[in-house]
Amino acid sequence: MNVASSAAAAFHSTFGTGPAGLWAAPGRVNLIGEHTDYNDGFVLPFALPQQVVAATAVSDEPGWTVCSDFADEPVTFASPAPGDVEGWAAYAAGVVWALQEAGFTVPPARIALASDVPVGAGVSSSAALESAVLTALADLGGLDLPVAKRPALAQRAENVYVGAPTGIMDQSASIRCEAGKALFLDCRSLEVEQIPFDLAAEGLAILVINSNTPHQHVDGEYGARRRSCEEAARILGVAALRDVGADDLDAALAKLDDEVMRRRVRHIVTENQRVLDTVALLRSGRIREIGPLMTASHASMRDDFEITVDRVDVAVEAALAAGAYGARMTGGGFGGCVLALIDADRAEATTAAVEQAYAERSFTPPTTWSATPGPGARRL
Ligand code: GLA
Repeated sequence: MNVASSAAAAFHSTFGTGPAGLWAAPGRVNLIGEHTDYNDGFVLPFALPQQVVAATAVSDEPGWTVCSDFADEPVTFASPAPGDVEGWAAYAAGVVWALQEAGFTVPPARIALASDVPVGAGVSSSAALESAVLTALADLGGLDLPVAKRPALAQRAENVYVGAPTGIMDQSASIRCEAGKALFLDCRSLEVEQIPFDLAAEGLAILVINSNTPHQHVDGEYGARRRSCEEAARILGVAALRDVGADDLDAALAKLDDEVMRRRVRHIVTENQRVLDTVALLRSGRIREIGPLMTASHASMRDDFEITVDRVDVAVEAALAAGAYGARMTGGGFGGCVLALIDADRAEATTAAVEQAYAERSFTPPTTWSATPGPGARRL
């Protein structure tokens, strides 16, 4: 059964009637631009075909009930406030809360969720859930909420209701991506440009390699990186590290005493430039040439930002040794997925090379698939 059918079936079995409609929102991978979003910088994600589907109907009773194919019991809440709903349902309750806090009248609703976005793989299963629920409620309630304003509300659900200090990339990707395109997002102005990313036309593929690494201490490390960047911006007298250009890097580093902080700053400044360089290459159709930028991004995350782990480094090295044009970890770090830019006919060979490298080290085998840029949140 596909995800849409699962969501509809879950709605029927839980609520005894049919939904008013099905709303879908995808997970994402980020082609390049990691940890730049909360530094007001640049990112370049694209939407995965994997998605969360919210089968939804307005309810004649007050409050909201959500059920899902990944939990046994439905969860009901009325007037949600941060801290009162936990676990997977917090992402849905957080969206209702954020909409209400922004002054919207949210229709009471029943929601059945189904998902094929891998959880814990760094491909934004939580942002997909938030975005699907938000899109459904905005449509059903006839809310006057332009698409460009939606990611910030879903992010607020995540930051304040769920309590994860993330940036705006994931919700922007899930809501604003388009099929066949990568989303070039300026995280300060929130302006977007849809960059054509037709891998198949060039005989290329992006192989996603899930390292299947258990996440450990992820939230604490993420918050620590964020604080370090904000402290560096304060010392440098800029609003955000976005304001340090690649040409200003040496002068900026000379003003910082702390060696760790210097490395964090170097990652952000060089990573922003790599996003701009990647976009310039893609605009002129030179997809293969982004490979070295991807690999340089990985090295920067490994050595300067220190957010990679052995299993992702091994996957990157094995993919490169198997002939990938470039490879890098995607997402927040400390595990998750690696992207490898490869010739489309090298998917099996590259997968085999990574599997072998993992087997030699007795790592849990990786999971791989070829990703094509899918559409953003929408009614099905
Ligand atoms: C996570 C966060 C995003 C972003 C990435 C790193 O996915 O949710 O906001 O910071 O990590 O680029």
